[in-house]
Amino acid sequence: MKILVTGGAGFIGSNFVRYLLEVHPDDEVVNLDLLTYAGNLENLAGLEDAGNYRFVRGDIADAGLLDRLFGQGLDLVVNFAAESHVDRSIEDPGHFLNTNILGTQALLETARRYGVTRFLQISTDEVYGSLSEEEGGFTEESPAAPNSPYSASKAAADLLCRAYFKTYDLPVVVTRCSNNYGPYQFPEKLIPLFITNALADEPLPVYGDGLYVRDWIHVRDHCIALDQVLRNGKDGEIYNIGADEERTNLEITQVILDKLGKDKGLIRHVKDRPGHDRRYAIDSSKIQGELGWRPATGFRQGMMDTIDWYIRNEAWWNKIKSGEYRQYYERMYGNR
Ligand code: NAD
Ligand code: DAU
Repeated sequence: MKILVTGGAGFIGSNFVRYLLEVHPDDEVVNLDLLTYAGNLENLAGLEDAGNYRFVRGDIADAGLLDRLFGQGLDLVVNFAAESHVDRSIEDPGHFLNTNILGTQALLETARRYGVTRFLQISTDEVYGSLSEEEGGFTEESPAAPNSPYSASKAAADLLCRAYFKTYDLPVVVTRCSNNYGPYQFPEKLIPLFITNALADEPLPVYGDGLYVRDWIHVRDHCIALDQVLRNGKDGEIYNIGADEERTNLEITQVILDKLGKDKGLIRHVKDRPGHDRRYAIDSSKIQGELGWRPATGFRQGMMDTIDWYIRNEAWWNKIKSGEYRQYYERMYGNR
């Protein structure tokens, strides 16, 4: 199989490329990534010489480039490429439309013209909006009710996927996963930000009361689920992916402080995120029942391994945090 992975130099995409090459050595992977601030070829270090892997720098919204790539023959498409950070979407919403909506449409259109056997769109549980404490987890039938420019742009892409399936019979499948954690996550996101700040004895900026709830899954479990959906999912379907590990942000913070032997005094409650979704929880019984997938990594073990990874890979995150990211951090947290 020849597989186009987009956004393969980001957090989940790079973990997925590594997973594919490890588990399906006969597959060929083309990784198309624009290398925005979030894309990093160091996430793929060691793969450069693999005969069945090729990196192409480019934009998923560039129809001419897509034409050339698809013209060389592709069987499957996995679209991770996106602007992925909610806070950045609040700061600059328009920026999210190009990649997340128009880029996805350009990919769908080229995939339709050339014909592929599967188009897998990597979506998010954030398209469902927010849950109260009492509600059960989101199912695939939950209505889309996105609350941030990021989640609205992802929901728009999901609807385009539906339209390409209904109108053109393009074999599209959409997955909606909960919050991922693990190696190579860009340190703007809660878990890597707090681990790396704590290691440097810098404050941990907890938004609002810190009682917001996310449902956490180790990135490897997400990759395993995606591979199963890619090969065995049903056209036109949506699959929720989650590990049933709900935690408040303060609980996450405490796990990190305890493991690193750091003091609670590092916690700073700062101004809340506008439109902050209170709680996400995923009902993944569909993928479990239909495809037999189950999460393999428990939250505690996954977090211990992840914290150890950031301890061992200080050079990787230090380079990011001392680069242009510094300006973003000061802008975002400076007078919060
Ligand atoms: P990320 O920000 O770490 O990586 C995004 C990648 O996309 C980067 O390598 C970037 O360079 C690339 N990219 C951005 N715009 C591009 C463009 N126009 N053309 C080509 N490449 C481009 O994101 P992530 O956390 O790895 O998320 C990957 C996907 O998974 C996203 O679609 C996101 O919506 C979805 N998702 C993420 C999570 C999570 O917890 N991180 C959960 C569910 C779904
Ligand atoms: O649910 C899936 C989504 O998870 C993905 O679609 C997104 O791409 C991904 O970024 C993530 O979105 P969140 O907004 O949930 O993740 P983030 O790490 O930004 O924030 C997690 C929680 O932590 C959220 O309640 C906000 C809070 N937070 C975050 C940061 C960065 C803080 O309290 N302080 C912070 O500094």
